[in-house]
Amino acid sequence: MRTVFDKIDKKNVPQHVAVIMDGNGRWAKNRGEERIFGHLNGVESVRSTLKAALKSGVRFLTLYAFSTENWNRPQDEINALMELLVTTISNEVEELSKQGVRLRTIGDLDALPSSAKIKMLEAQEQTKSNSKIDLILALSYSSRWEITRAIKNIVDAKIPANKITEELVNEYLCTKDIPDPELLVRTSGEIRVSNFLMWQIAYSELYFTPTLWPEFSEEEFFKALIEYQSRERRFGKISEQIT
Ligand code: FPP
Repeated sequence: MRTVFDKIDKKNVPQHVAVIMDGNGRWAKNRGEERIFGHLNGVESVRSTLKAALKSGVRFLTLYAFSTENWNRPQDEINALMELLVTTISNEVEELSKQGVRLRTIGDLDALPSSAKIKMLEAQEQTKSNSKIDLILALSYSSRWEITRAIKNIVDAKIPANKITEELVNEYLCTKDIPDPELLVRTSGEIRVSNFLMWQIAYSELYFTPTLWPEFSEEEFFKALIEYQSRERRFGKISEQIT
């Protein structure tokens, strides 16, 4: 019997998939548990998603792990999330490296507690020569933060207005050497982009699923790829111009 994976056209897999992992809190609440229980279980979905991305040949996988707005959550939840990040990376970095994963981050690492910042820098250093897939964690990230930072740096570099092109702006983003995602996935039924990669998703296909993040599976990732493959990407042109 053909599995969902078999139905993916392996020649038309997006190079870059970005994911807004949402619904951990609701998943935990539905079970009468604390929100952090949802985040703990969310780590399993990170594993499944990475596995599915590796299996399908996705080259870049970006996960929205902590937004600049998430600093407004109760301090207990922030602390628990930061701890979870440090323990997960410590436990997994060797295995990730064996699988050819290059771990990277986008966002304001300086805003993280120093233990988390140090762990992320170490893990990036340790995996920097791997090239099977780039796993990019967005940490203390938001598009408005990223674009504001880019503008400040462009002004600081005294670049004249007539030299400012889209390509130049791109050079000042956290994602400067990463292609734009062709596909953005958001779980939990919320239909919004929440300040995530807003420059980069200008022409991305958007896939929304009601599944809460702790229940997101390899199979669901494959379904998102199949849905992506059914879309006609016109980039402002008309159907007849697309070959
Ligand atoms: C959104 O659900 C999820 C987060 C803000 C945190 C995501 C973190 C993880 C999956 C675990 C750590 C990740 C790594 C990469 C080790 P929510 O809390 O907003 O859920 P809700 O909308 O139901 O409240």
